[in-house]
Amino acid sequence: MKHRARIAVIGAGKIGLVHMAHVMREGELAGVADPSFEARDVAARLEVPWFSSLGEMLSEMRPDGVVVATPNRLHVPQALECVAAGVPVLVEKPLADTPAAAGELVSAAREAGVSLLVGHHRRHNPLIAAARAQIEAGAIGRIVAVNALCWFRKPDSYFHIPWRTQPGAGPMLTNLIHDIDLMRHLCGDVACVQAQQASIARGHAVEDTAAVIMRFRSGALATMTVSDAVVAPWSWELTAGENPDYPRTSAACYTIGGTAGSLSLPDLGLWHYEGEADWGQPISRKALTRQGGDPLALQMRHFCEVALGEAEPLVPGEEGLATLDVLDAIRQAAESGRQVTLPSADDPDVPHNEARAS
Ligand SMILES: NC(=O)c1ccc[n+]([C@@H]2O[C@H](COP(=O)([O-])OP(=O)(O)OC[C@H]3O[C@@H](n4cnc5c(N)ncnc54)[C@H](O)[C@@H]3O)[C@@H](O)[C@H]2O)c1
Repeated sequence: MKHRARIAVIGAGKIGLVHMAHVMREGELAGVADPSFEARDVAARLEVPWFSSLGEMLSEMRPDGVVVATPNRLHVPQALECVAAGVPVLVEKPLADTPAAAGELVSAAREAGVSLLVGHHRRHNPLIAAARAQIEAGAIGRIVAVNALCWFRKPDSYFHIPWRTQPGAGPMLTNLIHDIDLMRHLCGDVACVQAQQASIARGHAVEDTAAVIMRFRSGALATMTVSDAVVAPWSWELTAGENPDYPRTSAACYTIGGTAGSLSLPDLGLWHYEGEADWGQPISRKALTRQGGDPLALQMRHFCEVALGEAEPLVPGEEGLATLDVLDAIRQAAESGRQVTLPSADDPDVPHNEARAS
């Protein structure tokens, strides 16, 4: 690396503060842009320049990279400002509040030749790299069936902030988006979805629970459920140990089944037969090994390299857009009760971000 990457953070809220801590370990914090008094205090404490807006910051300095950690609706306009200034950008998930807006950003970044990394940090987890390597090496054969659970209980106080009770703020776009992104990363692109949503636990306008059926382009089938209203440990949040805010359990939350074996995650258990694959024979579990590492720290290390032009984004804008397309198709399917088909990247007649109900 030529020099330590100078990275600015836009939005000094919950996740922005975490990003700042990682920037200070992996690179250099160039400044903070956020109009709040709290953000000004944070910048003063960290002894870095504070700006009331991204525009003000870009008129006074040119960092090597910018992290956009603001509310969802600001992601695209702020990332577009960075792209226009030629500054590589890490945009928190979801990439945008709509697939159309995400598509506009991805096109702008591509045309300008500016790197765009999407904050699907779980892909930086070494255990995901280990799982993907096993799948690619054929350890479980051809993937046939997948099950993913995203179950936990958010406290009632979480919903005292009114917008969290409204459509669009529920666990599908907030939490399941991470699981969908990992499933795409591990199992490939999604062809079509069916979904149902419910709010019987809390009775808010927003869903508290959803059930999804997906067919991957490979032909494999997945079932996924998300609920923020059940008392249960079966979610990435409560099993992977990525975030100290969520005490870890030893449960597993994903199972990926193939013709030669199955993989459970995040415990990285590989289930297979020593001899002939026959349900009448004892099945063995082998615990796969992997390196440790905090995915948010590894994501920031990677972004520093991207910002200095030393690496291509591991999760480029196109991937963030494709994951958002699946989430939007799930929303459409849950609202309409109909199956929604995702457009194929090589279908010239359908824009990439326009799903079709059938
Ligand atoms: N990757 C993850 O696991 C993860 C976790 C949490 C949040 N997120 C994402 O990060 C984003 C922020 O979430 P959060 O929970 O930190 O929100 P937050 O409300 O805690 O923080 C948002 C911050 O943005 C600031 N802000 C508002 N308008 C601004 C503007 N025009 N310019 C600059 N700053 C502005 C606010 O003052 C606030 O400090 C969301 O998109 C969310 O989905 C991702």
